[in-house]
Amino acid sequence: MSKNADVLADLFAAAKAAQAMAYVPYSNFPVGAALRASDGTVYVGGNVENAAFPEGWCAETSAIAAMVAAGGRRIAEICVIGNGAALCTPCGGCRQRIREFADAATRVHIAGPEGVRASFTLAALLPESFGPGHLKA
Ligand code: THU
Repeated sequence: MSKNADVLADLFAAAKAAQAMAYVPYSNFPVGAALRASDGTVYVGGNVENAAFPEGWCAETSAIAAMVAAGGRRIAEICVIGNGAALCTPCGGCRQRIREFADAATRVHIAGPEGVRASFTLAALLPESFGPGHLKA
């Protein structure tokens, strides 16, 4: 395997382990996210639900919060894993949260239990996006 493939395999494994820790008693739809920050550190998270259903949050949000709490500020790539046949692409809110810490070319890998199914650039998932630069004008 190439070094890139090794790194992605590690990210997938980390996302899958995080998915196993998701707290999803209401949706029964566990999601895991693993992101590699610009310094190479991997941060993970799962979705966390609660009895007031809409107040839960996504796996991507958990992983981003872990990165920020540790001082990380840039996402080099991110892998999201969900079950089911459809691609578990990030929700609209999470696309914007990823956008804050990533570039247009940042890769967003979407996985199922068997492995990575598709990879997108952030720009493909969130075209013509609003970002930190707009506030500097
Ligand atoms: N969810 C995520 O954690 N990430 C996604 O990319 C899509 C949806 C969660 C939110 C909720 O806990 C469950 O999946 C069902 O929507």
